Amino acid sequence: MTTVKKDKAETIQEFWNNQALQHQTELAATTPDPLAKDLEIAALVRHLDPGRDTLEFGCGNGGNILRLLDVLKGRITGVDYAEAMIEAARKVVRDHPESKRVSLQVGDILADPEGLGTFSQIFTTRCLINQTSLDLQVQAVENMERILDPGGRLVLIESVSQGQEKINELREMIGLKSIPYHWHNLYIDEPAFLERIPASLHHVETDNFASLYFLISRVFNARLVPEGEEPDYLSEINKIAAQLPSVGELAPLKLYHFEKMQ
Ligand SMILES: C[S@@+](CC[C@H](N)C(=O)[O-])C[C@H]1O[C@@H](n2cnc3c(N)ncnc32)[C@H](O)[C@@H]1O
Repeated sequence: MTTVKKDKAETIQEFWNNQALQHQTELAATTPDPLAKDLEIAALVRHLDPGRDTLEFGCGNGGNILRLLDVLKGRITGVDYAEAMIEAARKVVRDHPESKRVSLQVGDILADPEGLGTFSQIFTTRCLINQTSLDLQVQAVENMERILDPGGRLVLIESVSQGQEKINELREMIGLKSIPYHWHNLYIDEPAFLERIPASLHHVETDNFASLYFLISRVFNARLVPEGEEPDYLSEINKIAAQLPSVGELAPLKLYHFEKMQ
């Protein structure tokens, strides 16, 4: 009998298909944390230009696109390599009155992107962290750069290992265990990643939009939970943290805003 050993990338893609099959159109397919999602959407609204045609790579089950449809006035394209995610995304957007402006398709951020056309704005939300090496994360950025118009905007919300380490240091200082990395994630190594961004992409800003929220939810709230209980993502203290302006650089989640030179 021959056994076929799947490589890690294939197993990760299978994981995302299973997430979509299990959770369908629910937020839980792509994140367990509804307040962090609200903060991601607010950050995208601040950094995306409402007038441009937009591509989201790794769009999952379409939750971002649905929430951005009232804000972004151009065409919106969502691409994901998990077929079950795209099927769920079609269900998520189909009843929206503006759904005609949306096109959804199966595609890999690591494949040749030319067939997708060009865009004046591209974004990701926790997509690059599913690529299995820094080389592949950089390749994904290079692919997006190829189909970005001159003057185009690239907005990346990704998780960064240096931010995770900072939160874990604080947790350990008050007797909490470190939060482990998920097996399917490779968090961005910020200095190494930024050094390899294509020269045509000007780094406009890093937005530490989730710093205060992670400090409160992953340190304060986690410490206040009685031993043996799981912290509630929707606890009152988390809700308060999500309403306040962010301070510091303590979260793994960050937004990088780049512009392609003319
Ligand atoms: C954490 S989920 C986030 C989904 C969506 N961006 C959101 O914020 O709701 C990551 C998504 O990236 C997709 N993904 C991971 N690697 C990809 C790749 N190489 N090409 C296209 N999509 C990918 C997964 O299938 C999954 O739907």
